[in-house]
Amino acid sequence: MKNSKKIIRKDYGEWALVTGASSGIGKSFAELLSDQGINTICISNEKDQQAEICKSFKQKYNIESIPCYVDLANENFLKKINETIGDRIISILICCASFGFVGKFEDQDVEIYKEMIHVNVYSYLRLIHQFYSDMIKRNNGAIILTSSVNVSSPLGLSAVYTATKAFEFYLGEALCWESRDSDLDILVLLPGPTRTNFQKTAGTKVTSYAMDPLKVAEIGLKNLGKKWFTIAGWRSKLFFYIGQLLFPKRRIKLASKTYLRQLLKKNR
Ligand SMILES: NC(=O)c1ccc[n+]([C@@H]2O[C@H](COP(=O)([O-])OP(=O)(O)OC[C@H]3O[C@@H](n4cnc5c(N)ncnc54)[C@H](OP(=O)(O)O)[C@@H]3O)[C@@H](O)[C@H]2O)c1
Repeated sequence: MKNSKKIIRKDYGEWALVTGASSGIGKSFAELLSDQGINTICISNEKDQQAEICKSFKQKYNIESIPCYVDLANENFLKKINETIGDRIISILICCASFGFVGKFEDQDVEIYKEMIHVNVYSYLRLIHQFYSDMIKRNNGAIILTSSVNVSSPLGLSAVYTATKAFEFYLGEALCWESRDSDLDILVLLPGPTRTNFQKTAGTKVTSYAMDPLKVAEIGLKNLGKKWFTIAGWRSKLFFYIGQLLFPKRRIKLASKTYLRQLLKKNR
Protein backbone atom coordinates (compact mmCIF):
# COMPACT_ATOMS: atom_id res chain seq x y z
CA MET A 1 0.00 0.00 0.00
CA LYS A 2 1.13 3.47 -0.82
CA ASN A 3 0.08 5.38 2.29
CA SER A 4 -1.04 8.22 0.05
CA LYS A 5 -2.47 11.16 1.99
CA LYS A 6 -4.59 12.39 -0.84
CA ILE A 7 -5.79 11.05 -4.14
CA ILE A 8 -4.11 13.10 -6.77
CA ARG A 9 -3.52 12.51 -10.44
CA LYS A 10 0.15 11.91 -9.65
CA ASP A 11 -0.67 8.97 -7.34
CA TYR A 12 -2.93 7.01 -9.62
CA GLY A 13 -3.72 8.61 -12.98
CA GLU A 14 -6.13 10.87 -14.78
CA TRP A 15 -9.35 8.88 -15.11
CA ALA A 16 -11.81 7.47 -12.58
CA LEU A 17 -14.91 5.41 -13.21
CA VAL A 18 -17.69 5.80 -10.64
CA THR A 19 -20.90 3.76 -10.57
CA GLY A 20 -23.97 5.16 -8.86
CA ALA A 21 -22.80 8.67 -9.73
CA SER A 22 -26.24 10.23 -10.14
CA SER A 23 -26.89 10.60 -6.43
CA GLY A 24 -25.77 10.13 -2.85
CA ILE A 25 -22.36 8.69 -2.03
CA GLY A 26 -21.39 7.91 -5.65
CA LYS A 27 -22.13 11.45 -6.78
CA SER A 28 -20.11 12.75 -3.83
CA PHE A 29 -17.13 10.54 -4.78
CA ALA A 30 -17.30 11.85 -8.35
CA GLU A 31 -17.42 15.45 -7.12
CA LEU A 32 -14.48 15.03 -4.69
CA LEU A 33 -12.38 13.41 -7.43
CA SER A 34 -13.28 16.20 -9.86
CA ASP A 35 -12.16 18.69 -7.22
CA GLN A 36 -8.77 16.96 -7.22
CA GLY A 37 -8.41 17.34 -10.97
CA ILE A 38 -9.39 13.80 -11.88
CA ASN A 39 -11.56 13.17 -14.94
CA THR A 40 -14.60 11.00 -14.33
CA ILE A 41 -16.78 8.57 -16.23
CA CYS A 42 -20.04 8.63 -14.31
CA ILE A 43 -22.29 5.58 -14.55
CA SER A 44 -25.96 5.60 -13.68
CA ASN A 45 -29.39 4.75 -14.94
CA GLU A 46 -30.48 8.37 -14.88
CA LYS A 47 -30.00 10.00 -18.29
CA ASP A 48 -30.89 13.69 -17.88
CA GLN A 49 -29.83 14.01 -14.27
CA GLN A 50 -26.43 12.42 -14.89
CA ALA A 51 -25.77 14.65 -17.90
CA GLU A 52 -26.53 17.75 -15.78
CA ILE A 53 -24.27 16.54 -12.96
CA CYS A 54 -21.33 15.90 -15.33
CA LYS A 55 -21.85 19.28 -16.96
CA SER A 56 -21.69 20.99 -13.57
CA PHE A 57 -18.46 19.12 -12.64
CA LYS A 58 -16.86 20.21 -15.92
CA GLN A 59 -17.77 23.85 -15.38
CA LYS A 60 -16.87 23.96 -11.69
CA TYR A 61 -13.63 21.96 -11.72
CA ASN A 62 -12.40 22.33 -15.29
CA ILE A 63 -12.05 18.58 -15.81
CA GLU A 64 -13.60 16.04 -18.19
CA SER A 65 -16.73 14.30 -16.92
CA ILE A 66 -18.54 11.85 -19.17
CA PRO A 67 -21.99 10.50 -18.35
CA CYS A 68 -22.74 6.88 -19.21
CA TYR A 69 -26.32 5.72 -18.77
CA VAL A 70 -26.60 2.02 -18.41
CA ASP A 71 -28.76 -0.36 -16.44
CA LEU A 72 -26.33 -2.40 -14.36
CA ALA A 73 -29.01 -5.06 -14.03
CA ASN A 74 -28.74 -5.60 -17.77
CA GLU A 75 -26.63 -8.56 -18.91
CA ASN A 76 -24.65 -6.45 -21.41
CA PHE A 77 -23.85 -3.45 -19.25
CA LEU A 78 -20.09 -3.78 -19.66
CA LYS A 79 -20.21 -3.36 -23.45
CA LYS A 80 -21.68 0.14 -23.16
CA ILE A 81 -19.25 1.10 -20.39
CA ASN A 82 -16.25 -0.08 -22.43
CA GLU A 83 -17.49 1.80 -25.50
CA THR A 84 -17.64 4.96 -23.37
CA ILE A 85 -14.17 4.39 -21.92
CA GLY A 86 -12.57 3.89 -25.34
CA ASP A 87 -8.78 3.95 -25.02
CA ARG A 88 -8.70 5.89 -21.74
CA ILE A 89 -6.87 4.20 -18.87
CA ILE A 90 -9.00 3.90 -15.76
CA SER A 91 -6.80 4.19 -12.68
CA ILE A 92 -9.50 4.64 -10.04
CA LEU A 93 -12.62 2.46 -9.88
CA ILE A 94 -15.36 3.29 -7.41
CA CYS A 95 -18.23 0.81 -7.17
CA CYS A 96 -21.14 2.47 -5.46
CA ALA A 97 -24.33 1.58 -7.35
CA SER A 98 -26.60 -0.60 -5.24
CA PHE A 99 -30.14 -0.73 -4.03
CA GLY A 100 -31.93 -2.48 -1.20
CA PHE A 101 -35.33 -3.52 0.07
CA VAL A 102 -36.49 -3.48 3.66
CA GLY A 103 -39.32 -5.86 4.47
CA LYS A 104 -40.18 -9.51 4.83
CA PHE A 105 -38.25 -11.78 2.47
CA GLU A 106 -41.43 -13.24 0.96
CA ASP A 107 -42.97 -9.81 0.29
CA GLN A 108 -40.61 -9.03 -2.57
CA ASP A 109 -40.75 -10.52 -6.05
CA VAL A 110 -37.84 -12.87 -6.72
CA GLU A 111 -37.13 -10.98 -9.97
CA ILE A 112 -36.30 -7.88 -7.88
CA TYR A 113 -33.84 -9.97 -5.86
CA LYS A 114 -32.29 -11.15 -9.10
CA GLU A 115 -31.90 -7.54 -10.23
CA MET A 116 -30.42 -6.63 -6.83
CA ILE A 117 -27.84 -9.38 -7.12
CA HIS A 118 -26.99 -8.22 -10.64
CA VAL A 119 -26.42 -4.61 -9.55
CA ASN A 120 -24.94 -5.13 -6.07
CA VAL A 121 -22.92 -8.28 -6.75
CA TYR A 122 -22.36 -8.96 -10.45
CA SER A 123 -21.66 -5.36 -11.50
CA TYR A 124 -19.03 -5.04 -8.73
CA LEU A 125 -17.52 -8.38 -9.67
CA ARG A 126 -17.46 -7.77 -13.42
CA LEU A 127 -16.02 -4.25 -13.22
CA ILE A 128 -13.45 -5.17 -10.60
CA HIS A 129 -12.41 -8.25 -12.57
CA GLN A 130 -11.72 -6.12 -15.63
CA PHE A 131 -9.96 -3.19 -13.95
CA TYR A 132 -8.16 -5.08 -11.18
CA SER A 133 -6.45 -7.25 -13.80
CA ASP A 134 -5.27 -4.14 -15.70
CA MET A 135 -4.15 -2.43 -12.50
CA ILE A 136 -2.19 -5.47 -11.36
CA LYS A 137 -0.37 -5.49 -14.72
CA ARG A 138 0.42 -1.77 -14.42
CA ASN A 139 1.17 -2.14 -10.70
CA ASN A 140 -0.87 0.98 -10.04
CA GLY A 141 -4.47 1.91 -9.34
CA ALA A 142 -7.17 2.20 -6.73
CA ILE A 143 -10.48 0.44 -6.14
CA ILE A 144 -13.16 1.36 -3.61
CA LEU A 145 -16.05 -1.02 -2.95
CA THR A 146 -18.96 0.66 -1.20
CA SER A 147 -20.46 -1.98 1.08
CA SER A 148 -22.33 -1.29 4.34
CA VAL A 149 -21.81 -1.38 8.09
CA ASN A 150 -24.65 -3.92 8.05
CA VAL A 151 -22.10 -6.58 7.08
CA SER A 152 -21.44 -6.88 10.81
CA SER A 153 -24.43 -9.25 10.93
CA PRO A 154 -27.00 -10.91 8.70
CA LEU A 155 -30.12 -8.78 8.92
CA GLY A 156 -33.70 -9.94 9.16
CA LEU A 157 -36.01 -7.82 6.97
CA SER A 158 -33.09 -7.02 4.69
CA ALA A 159 -31.81 -10.53 4.08
CA VAL A 160 -30.82 -10.37 0.40
CA TYR A 161 -29.42 -6.84 0.51
CA THR A 162 -27.18 -7.64 3.49
CA ALA A 163 -26.02 -10.82 1.76
CA THR A 164 -24.98 -8.77 -1.31
CA LYS A 165 -23.08 -6.32 0.92
CA ALA A 166 -21.30 -9.24 2.61
CA PHE A 167 -20.18 -10.43 -0.83
CA GLU A 168 -18.65 -7.03 -1.58
CA PHE A 169 -16.93 -6.95 1.82
CA TYR A 170 -15.39 -10.40 1.44
CA LEU A 171 -14.39 -9.80 -2.19
CA GLY A 172 -12.70 -6.51 -1.34
CA GLU A 173 -10.84 -7.77 1.68
CA ALA A 174 -9.67 -10.92 -0.09
CA LEU A 175 -8.36 -8.89 -3.05
CA CYS A 176 -6.56 -6.54 -0.67
CA TRP A 177 -4.73 -9.56 0.65
CA GLU A 178 -4.04 -11.03 -2.80
CA SER A 179 -2.62 -7.73 -4.04
CA ARG A 180 -0.68 -6.93 -0.86
CA ASP A 181 2.70 -6.98 -2.62
CA SER A 182 1.58 -4.59 -5.35
CA ASP A 183 1.08 -0.82 -5.36
CA LEU A 184 -2.65 -1.28 -5.95
CA ASP A 185 -4.82 0.30 -3.22
CA ILE A 186 -8.15 -1.37 -2.41
CA LEU A 187 -10.59 -0.16 0.21
CA VAL A 188 -13.97 -1.42 1.37
CA LEU A 189 -16.06 1.49 2.62
CA LEU A 190 -18.73 0.64 5.19
CA PRO A 191 -21.23 3.50 5.45
CA GLY A 192 -23.92 3.58 8.10
CA PRO A 193 -27.17 5.49 7.65
CA THR A 194 -26.53 8.24 5.10
CA ARG A 195 -28.88 10.92 3.76
CA THR A 196 -29.39 9.77 0.15
CA ASN A 197 -32.09 8.35 -2.10
CA PHE A 198 -31.26 4.89 -0.81
CA GLN A 199 -33.93 4.80 1.91
CA LYS A 200 -36.66 5.96 -0.45
CA THR A 201 -35.78 3.16 -2.88
CA ALA A 202 -35.58 0.65 -0.03
CA GLY A 203 -38.94 1.75 1.35
CA THR A 204 -37.66 2.94 4.71
CA LYS A 205 -36.92 6.22 6.50
CA VAL A 206 -33.74 8.24 6.94
CA THR A 207 -32.70 8.24 10.60
CA SER A 208 -32.21 11.62 12.28
CA TYR A 209 -28.49 10.90 12.74
CA ALA A 210 -27.86 9.91 9.10
CA MET A 211 -24.57 11.26 7.73
CA ASP A 212 -23.99 13.60 4.84
CA PRO A 213 -22.95 11.60 1.73
CA LEU A 214 -20.09 14.02 1.00
CA LYS A 215 -18.63 13.34 4.45
CA VAL A 216 -18.92 9.57 3.87
CA ALA A 217 -17.13 9.79 0.51
CA GLU A 218 -14.45 11.99 2.10
CA ILE A 219 -13.82 9.31 4.74
CA GLY A 220 -13.44 6.76 1.93
CA LEU A 221 -10.88 8.80 0.02
CA LYS A 222 -8.98 9.75 3.17
CA ASN A 223 -8.49 6.10 4.10
CA LEU A 224 -7.61 4.80 0.66
CA GLY A 225 -4.05 3.49 0.71
CA LYS A 226 -4.06 3.36 4.51
CA LYS A 227 -6.57 0.64 5.46
CA TRP A 228 -8.35 -2.37 3.99
CA PHE A 229 -11.75 -1.27 5.23
CA THR A 230 -13.14 1.77 6.93
CA ILE A 231 -16.40 2.47 8.74
CA ALA A 232 -17.97 5.89 8.25
CA GLY A 233 -18.88 7.66 11.50
CA TRP A 234 -18.50 6.88 15.19
CA ARG A 235 -22.05 5.54 15.64
CA SER A 236 -21.50 2.99 12.91
CA LYS A 237 -18.11 2.04 14.37
CA LEU A 238 -19.78 1.44 17.73
CA PHE A 239 -22.56 -0.60 16.09
CA PHE A 240 -20.01 -2.68 14.16
CA TYR A 241 -17.60 -3.41 17.00
CA ILE A 242 -20.25 -4.05 19.66
CA GLY A 243 -21.81 -6.48 17.19
CA GLN A 244 -18.51 -8.36 16.97
CA LEU A 245 -18.58 -8.93 20.73
CA LEU A 246 -22.02 -10.54 20.72
CA PHE A 247 -22.98 -14.12 20.02
CA PRO A 248 -24.51 -14.43 16.49
CA LYS A 249 -28.03 -15.00 17.85
CA ARG A 250 -27.98 -11.79 19.91
CA ARG A 251 -26.24 -9.88 17.13
CA ILE A 252 -28.91 -10.61 14.52
CA LYS A 253 -31.65 -9.75 17.03
CA LEU A 254 -30.10 -6.38 17.84
CA ALA A 255 -29.40 -5.50 14.20
CA SER A 256 -32.82 -6.61 12.94
CA LYS A 257 -34.68 -4.74 15.68
CA THR A 258 -33.19 -1.48 14.43
CA TYR A 259 -34.60 -2.18 10.98
CA LEU A 260 -37.95 -3.27 12.39
CA ARG A 261 -38.24 0.05 14.22
CA GLN A 262 -37.75 1.89 10.93
CA LEU A 263 -40.38 -0.27 9.24
CA LEU A 264 -42.92 0.44 11.95
CA LYS A 265 -42.26 4.17 11.51
CA LYS A 266 -42.86 3.79 7.78
CA ASN A 267 -46.18 2.05 8.28
CA ARG A 268 -47.56 4.56 10.77
N1 LIG B 1 -27.59 5.53 2.25
C1 LIG B 1 -27.32 4.68 3.23
O1 LIG B 1 -27.86 4.79 4.34
C2 LIG B 1 -26.31 3.58 3.00
C3 LIG B 1 -25.91 2.82 4.11
C4 LIG B 1 -24.99 1.80 3.93
C5 LIG B 1 -24.47 1.55 2.67
N2 LIG B 1 -24.88 2.30 1.60
C6 LIG B 1 -24.30 1.97 0.28
O2 LIG B 1 -23.85 3.16 -0.34
C7 LIG B 1 -23.87 3.00 -1.76
C8 LIG B 1 -24.46 4.23 -2.40
O3 LIG B 1 -25.82 4.34 -2.08
P1 LIG B 1 -26.51 5.74 -1.79
O4 LIG B 1 -26.85 5.78 -0.37
O5 LIG B 1 -25.71 6.83 -2.36
O6 LIG B 1 -27.89 5.51 -2.59
P2 LIG B 1 -28.58 6.29 -3.79
O7 LIG B 1 -28.61 7.74 -3.52
O8 LIG B 1 -29.88 5.59 -3.98
O9 LIG B 1 -27.64 6.00 -5.03
C9 LIG B 1 -27.62 4.76 -5.67
C10 LIG B 1 -26.96 4.89 -7.01
O10 LIG B 1 -26.95 3.61 -7.63
C11 LIG B 1 -27.44 3.72 -8.95
N3 LIG B 1 -28.14 2.54 -9.41
C12 LIG B 1 -29.05 1.79 -8.73
N4 LIG B 1 -29.52 0.81 -9.52
C13 LIG B 1 -28.89 0.93 -10.72
C14 LIG B 1 -28.96 0.24 -11.96
N5 LIG B 1 -29.77 -0.81 -12.13
N6 LIG B 1 -28.16 0.65 -12.97
C15 LIG B 1 -27.35 1.71 -12.82
N7 LIG B 1 -27.25 2.42 -11.69
C16 LIG B 1 -28.02 2.04 -10.65
C17 LIG B 1 -28.43 4.87 -8.87
O11 LIG B 1 -28.60 5.39 -10.18
P3 LIG B 1 -30.08 5.74 -10.72
O12 LIG B 1 -30.63 6.75 -9.77
O13 LIG B 1 -29.79 6.23 -12.05
O14 LIG B 1 -30.84 4.45 -10.70
C18 LIG B 1 -27.71 5.84 -7.95
O15 LIG B 1 -26.78 6.61 -8.67
C19 LIG B 1 -24.63 1.70 -2.02
O16 LIG B 1 -23.69 0.70 -2.33
C20 LIG B 1 -25.31 1.39 -0.69
O17 LIG B 1 -25.45 0.01 -0.50
C21 LIG B 1 -25.79 3.31 1.74
